[in-house]
Amino acid sequence: MNIKKLAAISATALAFAASATGGGHSPIEQRIAAMKAVGGQMRTLGGMAQGKVDYDDFAALSALEIMRDAAITARPLFPTGTEMGFDTRAKPEIWAEGSDFDAIMGQLIANLDAAIAAEPADLASYRPLFGAIAGTCKSCHEKYRAPEN
Ligand code: HEC
Repeated sequence: MNIKKLAAISATALAFAASATGGGHSPIEQRIAAMKAVGGQMRTLGGMAQGKVDYDDFAALSALEIMRDAAITARPLFPTGTEMGFDTRAKPEIWAEGSDFDAIMGQLIANLDAAIAAEPADLASYRPLFGAIAGTCKSCHEKYRAPEN
């Protein structure tokens, strides 16, 4: 392969890398989308916990799995350097020393894993599992999410 061709290929690769990190796919936009996917399952999960929707173990498990995947996706999307931009509601405390942000995200994923492993067959066994999950949303948002702009 000659040098010119190689240079052309690496320029294309560079342009591709730039478009993957910039434009419409910044970590901030990706994490907001991932968190929306986490929140999207609350209609099903919260609705069943509150008795607004009949408990259905299959629907609960599917929603828990989608939520867990979304939380796993969101977790690494808070790198340093993403404190500002794209109307983020992430508070700077996330990146401050002594922050337990990642630990709470880990706790959410652990609670989701536990709920999935338990395969709750009825509402009575589902409710406390859901309570633990919802508790992690609240404790993290109170500390690390700013009010809506
Ligand atoms: C470890 C912290 C943490 C946990 C746990 C967490 N969140 Fe969040 N969440 C955030 C932060 C920070 C943002 C703001 C992200 C941004 O704007 O960059 C956010 C954003 C969101 C959004 C998007 C809001 C918008 O801007 O449109 C929704 C919806 C949401 N979270 C729902 C949930 C639900 C439901 C749970 C629990 C099942 C949960 N979150 C658990 C930290 C957390």
